Amino acid sequence: MVARLIDGKVVSADVKSRVIGAVRELKAIGVRPCLATVLVGDDPASATYIESKHKDAKEVGILTRDHRLAATFKQKELHELVQLLNNDPEVHGILVQLPLPSHIDEFDILSSLSPMKDVDGLTPYNVGMLQSGIAALKPCTPSGIMELLDYYKIDVGGMDVVIVNRSNLVGKPLLILLLERDATVTICHSKTKDLKEKLRSADLIVTAVGNRRRFTLTANMIKEDVVVIDVGIARLNGKLTGDLDFDSVKQKASWITPVPGGVGLMTRAMLLKNTVTAAAFITREMSK
Ligand code: GUN
Repeated sequence: MVARLIDGKVVSADVKSRVIGAVRELKAIGVRPCLATVLVGDDPASATYIESKHKDAKEVGILTRDHRLAATFKQKELHELVQLLNNDPEVHGILVQLPLPSHIDEFDILSSLSPMKDVDGLTPYNVGMLQSGIAALKPCTPSGIMELLDYYKIDVGGMDVVIVNRSNLVGKPLLILLLERDATVTICHSKTKDLKEKLRSADLIVTAVGNRRRFTLTANMIKEDVVVIDVGIARLNGKLTGDLDFDSVKQKASWITPVPGGVGLMTRAMLLKNTVTAAAFITREMSK
């Protein structure tokens, strides 16, 4: 079988058109949704991500604030900035780009974000809400993956799913979202025994490694008709690629996501969706 393409361009455009509708409704009641981003340090990849987020927001009519801080910025100063943004009635979403420099306690900063403005869904409150199955703001990459599956009507109920990633941004929240849909989920990582065996028995594989020397998913590692979602972003011979040996996996899988043009676009679209969700919620709360 040659896999069908799970197209992030199509699905992210669908999400964005819904966001544009929500922005229009908010505008009609005098609210301009606004996303504030915070970037500490000068990591070029992070700076590129931030630029894309601002471009996307402008495209759908979301206002932005761009806070760029030196790598030497102190924990206390970052706290103060977060407090200012938390208290600013014109800001509805706050995104602190990760990773933060090593002298900054990431958990402490994320914990200080107002949960209502936490468009990454990473505050302890929103993580707890996700676990309880009632979160309004969910981490963007896992919720983007669920949008892809829903759009193509891929029902994960009863599937054996293997996720190769255990991060707070991807693996852990995705485990919860898939479990909610009755999948049986295994999280794998660098210390997992018999990874190949686990991969070969999976009905759905989600990989988010991003280092082709450490991990490449090839056709001989998967079973026929598996669904494969590639969250990896890596460079191979100067070219942007994911975790898959795409051409060989495509010959065996039933569904596959490309890189670029797959999950990355969904992560970006879901941030916009979370920003209008936050703006609508905050507006409702303030009018009570
Ligand atoms: N760094 C890489 N991905 C993300 C993300 O989704 N959110 C934030 N805040 N930082 C990231």
